[in-house]
Amino acid sequence: MSPFRITRTLPEDATDAALRADVQRGLTDTPKTLPPKWFYDAHGSELFERITELPEYYPTRAEREILVDRAGEIAAAARARTLVELGSGSSEKTRYLIDALTDLDTYVPVDVSESALTQAGQALIAERPGMDVHALIADFTAALALPDTPGPRLVAFLGGTIGNLLPAERALFLASVRALLAPGDTLLLGTDLVKDERVLVRAYDDAAGVTAEFNKNVLAVVNRELGADFDPGAFDHVALWDAGNEWIEMRLRSRTAQTVKVPALDLAVDFAAGEELRTEVSAKFREDGVRTELAAVGLELSHWWTDGAGRFALSLSTVR
Ligand code: AVJ
Repeated sequence: MSPFRITRTLPEDATDAALRADVQRGLTDTPKTLPPKWFYDAHGSELFERITELPEYYPTRAEREILVDRAGEIAAAARARTLVELGSGSSEKTRYLIDALTDLDTYVPVDVSESALTQAGQALIAERPGMDVHALIADFTAALALPDTPGPRLVAFLGGTIGNLLPAERALFLASVRALLAPGDTLLLGTDLVKDERVLVRAYDDAAGVTAEFNKNVLAVVNRELGADFDPGAFDHVALWDAGNEWIEMRLRSRTAQTVKVPALDLAVDFAAGEELRTEVSAKFREDGVRTELAAVGLELSHWWTDGAGRFALSLSTVR
């Protein structure tokens, strides 16, 4: 049997239906919002890759530093035979874990992008003979059915993407992850940490304007997929720190009063001059908060590793 398998749990048209529902709801809401998952078409994914290389955007480098330094400790604590990675993308940073997990039998990358899964999966089986890859085309925020592979399982959710979920969504998500784990299984979670406001805001409002372009890309996605007539140039990129909620918000601010048509939804959306559309929440965390949120779903934080500068954390937790 081939060591590479791919299973689609997401219907081909699910993405389209979800985008329609999100745009319909978000653009008729007050204040207006669009969920950040729609940034990532091919162009948006490319822009995000460029963001990870910006001098101001530290999370990717900080998380890689932790993985390089601590992969051995993570592997020793998890002893996993199956590694499940939620939102695996290019699986670039996962290689440190795969290399360190000496008893690894199967890698299960989970992503909505079939092309990313196929590319990364094929490369990995060539690099690690004897390891199977069973890729899942799935939305990790929905209920997951994992293939029947040997335990213990290590579920990894890296990059700080959990910060894109609002607190109530986060609790539901963590509960669904907990449901995937049996005693002896572990969760490795990447979280960006609360820090100086200026450092945070710069990370989301870089001098080269790549994040601004990334932010406006969601308008191009809605134009292409739903026939809308957003003019990305008619909006300004906004990044701000919400100190009460301890999260970064990205918004798009309408430069003028304008009406945007979304033909696929039979919708006309009025923007006042200066009106803002929220496109992303990126929550920042503290160790106590992470421990409390994990405990609330029956997980116990056992390890907490940060980069040398204390900007980002990886936590390992176990089933209580
Ligand atoms: C991929 C969700 C972790 O929130 O920092 C980067 C996305 N947005 N710059 C983040 C993002 C603006 C990123 N995550």
